[in-house]
Amino acid sequence: MMEFLIRPLLLILLIAQMQSAQDSYKAATFEYEPEYIPDDPLETMRLNAKEFEKQIEIVSKEYAKIIVFPELGLTSIHLPNRSALSNWSIEVPDPEKNSLPCNESGIHEVLHKISCAAERRKLYVVINLVEKKDNCLYSSNVVFSSEGRIVARYRKYYRYNEFGEFNRPKELNATAFSTPFGTFGVLIGADILYEEPARTLIEKNVRQFVYPLAWVTVLPFSTSYQMQLTWSKTKDVTVISAPYYPGREYVVGGIFMSAGYDPKAARLNSAIVDIVPRKGRVSIDEISQSVTEPIGNDCVVRNKDIKLKIPCSTGIMRSRLQ
Ligand SMILES: *[C@@H]1O[C@H](CO)[C@@H](O)[C@H](O)[C@H]1NC(C)=O
Ligand SMILES: *[C@@H]1O[C@H](CO)[C@@H](O)[C@H](O)[C@H]1NC(C)=O
Ligand SMILES: *[C@@H]1O[C@H](CO)[C@@H](O)[C@H](O)[C@H]1NC(C)=O
Ligand SMILES: *[C@@H]1O[C@H](CO)[C@@H](O)[C@H](O)[C@H]1NC(C)=O
Repeated sequence: MMEFLIRPLLLILLIAQMQSAQDSYKAATFEYEPEYIPDDPLETMRLNAKEFEKQIEIVSKEYAKIIVFPELGLTSIHLPNRSALSNWSIEVPDPEKNSLPCNESGIHEVLHKISCAAERRKLYVVINLVEKKDNCLYSSNVVFSSEGRIVARYRKYYRYNEFGEFNRPKELNATAFSTPFGTFGVLIGADILYEEPARTLIEKNVRQFVYPLAWVTVLPFSTSYQMQLTWSKTKDVTVISAPYYPGREYVVGGIFMSAGYDPKAARLNSAIVDIVPRKGRVSIDEISQSVTEPIGNDCVVRNKDIKLKIPCSTGIMRSRLQ
């Protein structure tokens, strides 16, 4: 009689457990203080890419499905002035080409290495780099799928007292990518202080975000961790943030989940993995769209008090949105 009762109970428990395994996945983030070799961009990027490969391998053994690396994690914040910045840059294939850098020639070795690592370890990888496109240099997030393909590219739009003389892109695109464990919006740094592109993404039902950042915490209110936690809770979204180590004892990022979950703080130079509830998959075609109106043919570089105009086919600074 007892057995008769217990068996169905066990079955129900087993099904519940399988269900919950499907409803969540493991995500990883890496807080990092990058290597920097003065005047040697290639060696700097090689060293940091090597560290990324190492972390990708470590978290894959813990069954992470996605890992996020910090803003400027490949180059460090020690970027030279504009005339030398292009030596720190990388050309990134258009995501529409569905490029697999690991198996293609003529692609920068750093993209090649990260692509191979993503493919080999079968996880999604998000990095930030200095992107070169024609005469423009952008701070861009690049997303690799678990097959090693470039599936998204997002160029930084809001610049906030920043490192590096980058261009502002001509338009701000709401950018997302789909995975078997849900759709992710892509953000960088100061984005969470502004309405767009988050509003468009959330309106389209995106509930998970990847978020590389290099945030300078200024007490009492501009504290990175609290800002992200609040953002995640009030918008009811998951934020997988990867902070650049700011050289101080502030906690600056981690994995933030919406209501009912505790955040998990990132740990310096050692990736963390956490179980994250899976949130809906939505149609990407509807999302990839410009949320600002493109203007002009020039792009403007601004860094503190330096302002120079560079002829360039894609980009302009819109003062209204500064
Ligand atoms: C930019 O940096 C290079 C190398 O450090 C230096 O020679 C040059 O004078 C700098 N240019 C400006 C405009 O500061
Ligand atoms: C950029 O790299 C090239 C090739 O390695 C080198 O000749 C040039 O001096 C570098 N420019 C600067 C400003 O460092
Ligand atoms: C790409 O190259 C890797 C490593 O050489 C190989 O294992 C993989 O099968 C290739 N993938 C495709 C889609 O050709
Ligand atoms: C925005 O998306 C359009 C259409 O895919 C593309 O042509 C443009 O380069 C993108 N702009 C940025 C800043 O990524």
